[in-house]
Amino acid sequence: MSAAGAARDPAFGETTGAGSGEAADALPAEAAGAAFDEAPSYRVRALPGIPEVRAGDDLAKLIASTGPGLVDGDVLLVTSKIVSKAEGRIVEAADREAAIDAETVRVVARRGALRIVENRQGLVMAAAGVDASNTPAGTVLLLPEDPDRSARAIRDGLRDALGVEVGVVVTDTFGRPWRSGLTDVAIGAAGVRVLDDLRGGTDTYGNPLGATVVATADELAAAGDLVKGKASGLPVAVVRGLGHVVAPADSPDSAGGARALVRDAADDMFRLGTSEAVREALTLRRTVREFADEPVDPGAVRRAVAAAVTAPAPHHTTPWRFVLLESEESRTRLLDAMREAWIADLRGDGKSEESIAKRVRRGDVLRRAPYLAVPCLVMDGSHTYGDERRDTAEREMFVVAAGAGIQNFLVALAGERLGSAWVSSTMFCRDVVREVLDLPESWDPLGAVAIGRAAVAPTARDARDPEAFITVR
Ligand SMILES: Cc1cc2nc3c(=O)[nH]c(=O)nc-3n(C[C@H](O)[C@H](O)[C@H](O)COP(=O)(O)O)c2cc1C
Repeated sequence: MSAAGAARDPAFGETTGAGSGEAADALPAEAAGAAFDEAPSYRVRALPGIPEVRAGDDLAKLIASTGPGLVDGDVLLVTSKIVSKAEGRIVEAADREAAIDAETVRVVARRGALRIVENRQGLVMAAAGVDASNTPAGTVLLLPEDPDRSARAIRDGLRDALGVEVGVVVTDTFGRPWRSGLTDVAIGAAGVRVLDDLRGGTDTYGNPLGATVVATADELAAAGDLVKGKASGLPVAVVRGLGHVVAPADSPDSAGGARALVRDAADDMFRLGTSEAVREALTLRRTVREFADEPVDPGAVRRAVAAAVTAPAPHHTTPWRFVLLESEESRTRLLDAMREAWIADLRGDGKSEESIAKRVRRGDVLRRAPYLAVPCLVMDGSHTYGDERRDTAEREMFVVAAGAGIQNFLVALAGERLGSAWVSSTMFCRDVVREVLDLPESWDPLGAVAIGRAAVAPTARDARDPEAFITVR
């Protein structure tokens, strides 16, 4: 973008007198060379002469004594490993896994022995950043406790020692989702505009930039890695020529540190690995009995039906049907008819009118829901054996398959951030339901599912120990 801008600058572009068409923009070699020399650029150099760092070392002093004259506006890229060593973050750990456990806040994904976790610093990375390389056997290196604080200490120390205003980025090496290969990123920063928010501006074509926030500190970290290398004993690099990314200590731009590069959970569309997401989706589904006064997206319900009908079923059948009650009128008609049927049952039980009125007055989860679905079982494709034992087993097989489909439905709704309550009432008045909803005789209602945004989050349930449900033979 900048180079293109320079080429169009009259000082370079308009004086060439070149021919027409595409060639009109081309510069003669000499002018092109001059334009190249003038184009935006920076230099990045590794800092030679940093000795093996030990616990208690003052990194700012080490850098100040070994570095070439640093100047205002330089940015130092400091490998986190030497920061950890200086801060004594080396621990005895014959068991690296235990050290990873201690640094882990939550597991994002796991495959075999590899764990991608969120660590105490909020960083999502392999093995919580616990490093067993470049450290004596039987020890592991933890990340700096607070890498932003570490960066500030180095920046302040260099100001004291050399009187220079520099930026400092503490870097570490990360893998990335979707991209092969590792790259350095900023885990700590001081005096650096870590993010360059271009939103509100326009590109060279005048298109508005609606989402462009550049991760400048990560770009600096990666630039430093190109000259530091991994095993060359060059843990610090200096970028010169990008003074505009350096922010004075008291400027609000430097306040956030590299913490500002950690995406908020609410904005993170990819918080979990696949198997972790499946597990979380399952536990996310809880019965919701109070709903917010918000309409339900019919598209979300259809996506949940699509998930429902992937459930296992006998003989390659598809025993699921879903009746969606999308209008208030249809819901009320069904619920009123079911109430009458219930009252008739209670009268049949010999209950007093007072007791019946009391029961019926009690809140009904289905009436409080902004959307209802009535899942039905169809026995299409079932076998008939002609004896009761096997015919009963056949029907039970279809019922459990129907239940599996409904569970899929509820889990998929939870994935759509929709709460649900699967209640049984339609099973107790199937003829009434079929009549009101005009369903074929062969459709068997299997309860009803109240659907809506949860008014309050369901209370947490203690994890159940699988062993209590298992018998091994
Ligand atoms: C077949 C079936 C029928 C149910 N019927 C009702 C019901 O009539 N009323 C109700 O409030 N909950 C009903 N539930 C929901 C259960 O009470 C609920 O699943 C249980 O308390 C466990 O809570 P959880 O769903 O949050 O895990 C029913 C659940 C199933 C599977």
